[in-house]
Amino acid sequence: MKKVGIGSDHGGFELKESIKEYLEELNIEYEDYGTDNEESVDYPEYGKKVANAVVAGEVEKGIVICGTGIGISLAANKVKGIRCALCSDTYSARMSRAHNNANMLSLGGRVLGVDLAKEIVKVWLEEEFQGGRHERRVNQIED
Ligand code: RB5
Repeated sequence: MKKVGIGSDHGGFELKESIKEYLEELNIEYEDYGTDNEESVDYPEYGKKVANAVVAGEVEKGIVICGTGIGISLAANKVKGIRCALCSDTYSARMSRAHNNANMLSLGGRVLGVDLAKEIVKVWLEEEFQGGRHERRVNQIED
């Protein structure tokens, strides 16, 4: 797989660092779009950075993390071409790829334990889009 872009605000920083280590274990290349510490920052900036990188093809997929995962996913989804899925369970993560062709995953750093977050990331990165009738629906979102 091509590179994964990853970004967070301060509320997601700690989980972002854990997910980076996990991506290294999986031998998956990533680009970190910040933030770089736990100082308070505004999540829309980081959602946008990763979303723009996905749309520009700098990275194949994006993972974004804030406290709940909500704000940063809302911001990412404002970028045309982005389908960012906020997931707190592995079933939703799998289906967001299989049916929705999500090109970004959002996680809540203050919601999820690290081990569950890693499982969600693994499932999400491995699952393929099923296409077919789902493609028609995804196209409708774009339209
Ligand atoms: C920051 O305190 C927090 O609001 C942010 O990380 C996120 O949870 C927003 O949706």
